[in-house]
Amino acid sequence: MAETTSDGAATPALFSPYKMSKFNLSHRVVLAPMTRCRAVGSIPNNALVEYYTQRATNGGFLITEGTMISPTAAGFPHVPGIFNKEQVEAWKKVVDGVHAKGAVIFCQLWHVGRASHPALQPGGIAPISSTDKPISKRWRVLLPDGSYGVYPKPRKLDTSEIHEVVEHYRQAAINAIEAGFDGIEIHGAHGYLIDQFLKDGINERKDEYGGSLPNRCKFIMQVVQAVVAAIGLDRVGLRISPAIDHLDAMDSDPLSLGLAVINQLNKLQTDYGSKLTYLHVTQPRYTAYGQTESGNHGSADEEARMMKTWRKVYKGTFICSGGFTRQLGIEAVAEGDADLIAFGRLFISNPDLVTRLKVNAPLNKYVRATFYTHDPVVGYTDYPLLGSDTVKNVPISRL
Ligand SMILES: Cc1cc2nc3c(=O)[nH]c(=O)nc-3n(C[C@H](O)[C@H](O)[C@H](O)COP(=O)(O)O)c2cc1C
Repeated sequence: MAETTSDGAATPALFSPYKMSKFNLSHRVVLAPMTRCRAVGSIPNNALVEYYTQRATNGGFLITEGTMISPTAAGFPHVPGIFNKEQVEAWKKVVDGVHAKGAVIFCQLWHVGRASHPALQPGGIAPISSTDKPISKRWRVLLPDGSYGVYPKPRKLDTSEIHEVVEHYRQAAINAIEAGFDGIEIHGAHGYLIDQFLKDGINERKDEYGGSLPNRCKFIMQVVQAVVAAIGLDRVGLRISPAIDHLDAMDSDPLSLGLAVINQLNKLQTDYGSKLTYLHVTQPRYTAYGQTESGNHGSADEEARMMKTWRKVYKGTFICSGGFTRQLGIEAVAEGDADLIAFGRLFISNPDLVTRLKVNAPLNKYVRATFYTHDPVVGYTDYPLLGSDTVKNVPISRL
């Protein structure tokens, strides 16, 4: 697994090449999808071009922030969309900037379902979901005026409406390819619409989309199949998080839920005689509590058992993310627990994360307060590069 450098030291496999379907990656450090709320009016702008280009490396792999597949998909202010022509044209500049640096970029397709608010919905309508149960008051929704609100009661989708949502994913995938993306990642994780169908802590439906595991997996598989039929398996990745309770997305048996999805993906791959680009699974340790710096990250043994089981059963490229440090990433790839590691927060504050991890340089600390603000520079593209204490003349003390 390890290569050798000119001075004879072993290079960790995390920094070695990997062939992910048709893409020849030069290392295994991936930009995790992260909502940053800088696409004012849902249109990607020059700030996004700069942000993604800063994080692109030759042979690197980037996944965009969650991107709205339709007007009802929004759960945060100023998230980008990929459902109209203006958005598609605007994304082209982002993709071109990233490609010019030799990186591969996938667009994450997102519908938040009930994790929204009338203030974020077209015409102030109620958000849609698998259920009419709201997200509990333990969680808060970020509103366009910068305040936080309570999640409202969603409108439960009628069985007859579900195919329209599937169609929005399909069209969004086609649009992403038109924008020049190398592929798409379906966001099936973290308590958003697809997860609202998967988890028995949310989905109480009595129709063919609720109840048994195959029924709860029906929506995700319809989305995967529709997107695959439109753009091909080798341009489709899927993200799931069976063991994460974000936004009340709890399941009574996460291990079996993960296996149910994976077995269906394996079957689809066998039927097609080829593979999806990857399966991306969020580490259970990135729980509700993992969103802060303190708190219980769950039982390490149980987490490891689940991740190793899913990894072993899935027949294809396996990406992990959630709470990885340099050391944990090196170990996970060296031990075969993952093919690629997606880094989130560390990539926010270190545009040159790949270089820093390679040479084991110190890392800039991220500033949580600017994760979801709208300034095109501050906390977004002004984190300094290695060897400079400023980027664009922004003093490091501001970070
Ligand atoms: C600011 C922020 C925004 C995020 N937005 C998304 C998103 O749009 N889609 C997604 O799948 N995950 C999202 N995540 C989760 C990350 O992809 C990643 O899994 C998480 O940050 C854990 O990895 P880390 O410990 O390396 O930060 C977000 C995380 C953060 C911190």
